Amino acid sequence: VVAPIGPGALGRHLALVGFMGAGKSTVGHGAARLAERPFVDTDAEIERLRGPIPALFEQRGEGEFRRLEEAVVAEALARDEPAVLALGGGAVLSERTRALLRRRAFAVHLLVDVDTAWARVRRSGRPLAQDEESFRRLFAEREALYGEVADGEADDVDGVLASALCVHVRRGALAAVVGAAKGAAVVADERLAGLSWWPEWPEGVAVHALPSGEPAKSLAVVGRLWDELGLGRDGRIVAVGGGTTLDAAGFTAATYLRGVDWIAVPTTLVGQVDAAIGGKTGIDLAKGKNLVGAFHLPAEVAVDPDLLATLPERERRQGMAEVVKTGLLAGRPLWELPEEEMVRACAAFKCAIVLSDPHERGRRAILNLGHTFAHALEAASEYELPHGDAVALGLLAALRLSGQPTDVVEEVLAPRPVEVDREAAWAALGRDKKGRAGRPRLVLLRAPGDPEWGVERPEAETRAALDELIAS
Ligand SMILES: NC(=O)c1ccc[n+]([C@@H]2O[C@H](COP(=O)([O-])OP(=O)(O)OC[C@H]3O[C@@H](n4cnc5c(N)ncnc54)[C@H](O)[C@@H]3O)[C@@H](O)[C@H]2O)c1
Repeated sequence: VVAPIGPGALGRHLALVGFMGAGKSTVGHGAARLAERPFVDTDAEIERLRGPIPALFEQRGEGEFRRLEEAVVAEALARDEPAVLALGGGAVLSERTRALLRRRAFAVHLLVDVDTAWARVRRSGRPLAQDEESFRRLFAEREALYGEVADGEADDVDGVLASALCVHVRRGALAAVVGAAKGAAVVADERLAGLSWWPEWPEGVAVHALPSGEPAKSLAVVGRLWDELGLGRDGRIVAVGGGTTLDAAGFTAATYLRGVDWIAVPTTLVGQVDAAIGGKTGIDLAKGKNLVGAFHLPAEVAVDPDLLATLPERERRQGMAEVVKTGLLAGRPLWELPEEEMVRACAAFKCAIVLSDPHERGRRAILNLGHTFAHALEAASEYELPHGDAVALGLLAALRLSGQPTDVVEEVLAPRPVEVDREAAWAALGRDKKGRAGRPRLVLLRAPGDPEWGVERPEAETRAALDELIAS
């Protein structure tokens, strides 16, 4: 199966452009490691082939250097396996390079201000960083060019990863979507229209209200949208709401006219750190949740942390379970960050995983840490137990089976054993859709930041871990 091309850098090279001193090599290396892609630093490649760049400049002149650079960039962009590329600051001067970037890559402008850039490179011996005045002049000349070739912009590893999947985390993101909504159809959770941040949509934009919560994820609701939408092939859906709204609206976008574009505006913490990212869309059947669906990535995800101001504490807690899960997978205490940074870091981590494995053929499975047990408990409670509370318990079980401390889960999420029928929970665990022949395949942690997936454990151990989550 060929990986889908786009949105963003999916199935394509991710090229970092920007001025010298922006940190393209360091950031590119970090992004490549997290997205498990090869990394090509074109300056390093030139030095490998021809020796130090300052000497090359001096002996052969800038013209010869630029010709060599153009060839090295073209060779890197011609490779089939999507990589992360860090391009030299002047690479985009070449018309041919700019054309190749447009065809073969998603380019992100790594931002830096001129003072920081100068402070970083002034003593580096780089040929074009010899005197401050010409350095500043060059910076002013090049900025417009980077803006012209870039598909996105960022200033660190997380920003690059988010941008690479067209995920924008910033205050005011909703206003930008509203400003560009003409011609789109809005699909939104019916409860949001009364909230303080609910916007005035442009005239002529139809707003389709979906029932709040899990009832949105039904064939009846999606069928009604199919009938009502009236969009053309070039139309797009703007979905505003939590994970349930996004799953239903995204599935509608995947199927209507065999697929139209959609923009996700997640309004819950679960939505912002998880459900809006990665293109899994779907609805529920009487037999179970998420049993019908499609991979259909949103063309843009507008994450506006301001929208969380109205979120009830209970809903916030559901999202914190995914935050703790992400932090354990990433090996970073993301739950300790201020809210906006926390959301950005979690979203970026999920982007990295999705970039490396969009269809969950391997590594993406790690995102199910704690979820196998969670699904079993939810099913046994007949979906009375909220998903996040179930995930918090599931994380406890996964950590115990991993031989890892559980204190973070206990302190941040404080899960309480749940009263459900033990046999029903055990039976549900055996039915897990990711299991094999009735045996669940688990995601465990060798250490924080070092997950393994597809792990089978002796039945007695798994059963004991499940039993510990259930109140007698
Ligand atoms: N597709 C994916 O990758 C993915 C990932 C995780 C979860 N999910 C799905 O997401 C769903 C859960 O999402 P959720 O937790 O966001 O639930 P949700 O969409 O039901 O929202 C929870 C509640 O919060 C309310 N709400 C939403 N935004 C609000 C706001 N800003 N202020 C006040 N109230 C607000 C909603 O009306 C609802 O009552 C599940 O169906 C799950 O299967 C999907």
